[in-house]
Amino acid sequence: MLIFLFWKITFLKIVYINQIGYICNHKQNGDSVSLVNNRIHKMKRILVSGGAGFIGSHLCTRLINDGHEVICLDNFFTGSKDNIAHLMGNHHFEVVRHDVTYPYSAEVDEIYNLACPASPIHYQHDPIQTAKTSVMGAINMLGLAMRLDAKVLQASTSEVYGDPIVHPQPEYYWGNVNPVGYRSCYDEGKRCAETLFMDYHRQNDVRVKIIRIFNTYGPRMLPNDGRVVSNFVLQALNNEDITIYGDGKQTRSFQYIDDLIEGMIRMMETEDDFTGPVNLGNPNEFSIQELAEKIIAMTDSSSKIVFKSLPNDDPKQRQPDITLARKKLGWEPTIELEDGLSRMIEYFKGSKTNK
Ligand SMILES: NC(=O)c1ccc[n+]([C@@H]2O[C@H](COP(=O)([O-])OP(=O)(O)OC[C@H]3O[C@@H](n4cnc5c(N)ncnc54)[C@H](O)[C@@H]3O)[C@@H](O)[C@H]2O)c1
Repeated sequence: MLIFLFWKITFLKIVYINQIGYICNHKQNGDSVSLVNNRIHKMKRILVSGGAGFIGSHLCTRLINDGHEVICLDNFFTGSKDNIAHLMGNHHFEVVRHDVTYPYSAEVDEIYNLACPASPIHYQHDPIQTAKTSVMGAINMLGLAMRLDAKVLQASTSEVYGDPIVHPQPEYYWGNVNPVGYRSCYDEGKRCAETLFMDYHRQNDVRVKIIRIFNTYGPRMLPNDGRVVSNFVLQALNNEDITIYGDGKQTRSFQYIDDLIEGMIRMMETEDDFTGPVNLGNPNEFSIQELAEKIIAMTDSSSKIVFKSLPNDDPKQRQPDITLARKKLGWEPTIELEDGLSRMIEYFKGSKTNK
């Protein structure tokens, strides 16, 4: 009995010392050790493809702040080292220059597959490479996840709904996409990636997650890449004409980057048999003209609005139905458009892109 008690006390001491040691080590290294439900939050190794882009850089930052190790994989086509400069000194952060159309290998627990140019100007620059990035990139990331038994999340897009005839768009709507147009390299590439994700899940039991991201904006968007919020903010700050393509009545919903990142993390944490797809976007709808007028007012700009003809296959309206995200992730956007826009305006005011 005495021997048993002695053994038990010694064992408990070792566990206690180990835990304290773990916390101290991590505190010494400058980490934030988070306690979730009174348990030490497990550090994971996470791969983020496209991690030097607009969304990827915010995701890497959040994952590092949550105490994880992050490998950022990027070919720097539209991403930049500036976007991740603030993470470079962190010994839990690694950058690898790599094109996802080629296989890549590293030991990781989770993969976020974001690599793909997102703005029409960039994805139409080399449409074959865009389709290859979506399709080959998906195959390579899924293959890696399969070998490692890692979870893998696909950053899909509201573009899979094309020019929708159902409004707002729920996940069970299959979309209205032109397979042979100028946007098809992106839209169909992303649709094919979703197919591959579901087939790897059904055929090989890979734990997959698919999110469909709607229009997202925030700091680190590239200026003048044709995305509407950054374009309008820059034009307004420079008192230049604000260009609206079409009559301005087409509607969009705009989600602030921090809301999206929260939704992505929550999606990754869902139970293994939940694959999605799940819409992540802000359901508050604005016409493009309303957006332009709001930005002009907020920047106190003398810009005038000018109208140009609508590009090919531009969808007339887009609004997410986020019922599923509310139910499965307990998620909904929290940042109002005015609040997000003022953060964006401050960012561009301080950035070298503002003349
Ligand atoms: N921003 C949005 O509103 C939005 C909406 C829907 C979906 N998405 C999706 O989210 C992801 C990230 O979008 P973003 O807005 O950050 O775009 P982004 O262009 O800023 O980022 C994409 C990143 O992928 C990298 N990349 C491109 N091709 C690559 C390749 N072959 N190999 C390795 N890296 C490559 C780029 O260099 C860049 O860093 C994309 O997959 C995009 O389709 C974004």
